Amino acid sequence: MSSRSLHEKLRTNTSLSILFIFFAVILLGMLWSGYQTHQTIEASKTSLPTLKTRVRHLYDQTHPDFLADTSSMEQIEALEKDISKENKRLNRAWTFGYAPLKQEKQTVEKQWAQLTQTAEQAKQKQTVLDDMNKIFEQVTHPVQELQADQLIINDLSDETDITAYEKHLKNLPKDSFKIIAQQAFDQAKEQADSLFSLKAELNQYVPKDKITNDPSAEQLAQISDTFDQIKSEKIRQVYQPKMAIVFDKLFELDKDALSNNDSSDKVAALTFDDGPNDTSTIRILDTLKKYKIKGTFFMVGRMIANYPDVAKRVAEEGHLIANHTYYHPDLTTLSPDAIRKEVNDTDDLIEKISGKRTTILRPPYGAFDSKVTAAIPHKMALWNVDTEDWKSHNPAAILEQVKIQTAHQNHPVILMHDVHAESADSLESVIQYLIQQGYRFTTADKLLKYL
Ligand code: NI
Repeated sequence: MSSRSLHEKLRTNTSLSILFIFFAVILLGMLWSGYQTHQTIEASKTSLPTLKTRVRHLYDQTHPDFLADTSSMEQIEALEKDISKENKRLNRAWTFGYAPLKQEKQTVEKQWAQLTQTAEQAKQKQTVLDDMNKIFEQVTHPVQELQADQLIINDLSDETDITAYEKHLKNLPKDSFKIIAQQAFDQAKEQADSLFSLKAELNQYVPKDKITNDPSAEQLAQISDTFDQIKSEKIRQVYQPKMAIVFDKLFELDKDALSNNDSSDKVAALTFDDGPNDTSTIRILDTLKKYKIKGTFFMVGRMIANYPDVAKRVAEEGHLIANHTYYHPDLTTLSPDAIRKEVNDTDDLIEKISGKRTTILRPPYGAFDSKVTAAIPHKMALWNVDTEDWKSHNPAAILEQVKIQTAHQNHPVILMHDVHAESADSLESVIQYLIQQGYRFTTADKLLKYL
């Protein structure tokens, strides 16, 4: 054997060894990496349930479309961060195209994708909830209890809030949360639109503290209707002074229309005693509004104290509020001081609610004598048509009384009670009958001379 061939043999062996070691290292590396990937997937599987629980806690389990009342944007964002961290770790894990490993990874990835999506939806819902809180007064959680038709917009000094809300709304998944959020938005939009028209209308006709540009009665009534669309007490208060000017002008136009007609003209006053309450009075207001009629409400002080919001609505809708004492006693049985207290306490409340002090009193039971008229300066306002609604509690009987008693009466002052449901039931038929008979409507103060 030559020394040369031995040499070559040795060289070949060395190369083979190096090659062997090289592949061994690679193989070990792959095995190690594969093991690491497997470990990552296992770790991912382990952290899944914890994060799933956290996502689940964001939602109200009895109404899974809705976020729980404890959810917050911070909570959701922290969760999103943790989910994305896990996602990144999983993405980095290398499967070398090794089928079983690849499949295992894909299964876990799918679960993470689902979780990411749910967290994203929670974020969108929280965004819309935050918008709602900005736009509306008193949004109560959980949202499923939210009465979309009772929402009241806050001060909307610019349109940004509502535009952002609309944009966020579009991203929501189509579920029951979206339906409610959409209803709430529609309502906000309606109120906001009314507010912007009211601003424009008032700017045109009542730019400062008096009426300019001579609007017609219809245009003024239109402003009053627009004002009625706004439910926020805060916003209403801002426009109340200008609205008072509008209402005064409407009354003035009414009075002119009356005095321009001869006394044979048929004019009726609908009067409502003993209220307000928060049931039948409200239905009566709705009916009067439907026919654009201003009525007269002889309110009892105790009832105003109980239902100040309804009393305010009566005033704001341009009806006349007059005095019917505080506790509804027979005034003829009281001392002069007690008479004054009954009447003045009620006057104070009426002034507080409507900004106007009344000088008209309807004594309970129509009972008054010289002692009563000496004690107070008020004009006594009785009636000439008694519907006897308090006795019959029957809409047909009420209408019948109106028909009989107005037969020869061109200036009926009709006595009803807004505290009875049947009186509210009858009102529309009474109004329709009077319109049919050619009557127009005014407030009781204009017809006192016919009593
Ligand atoms: Ni009464």
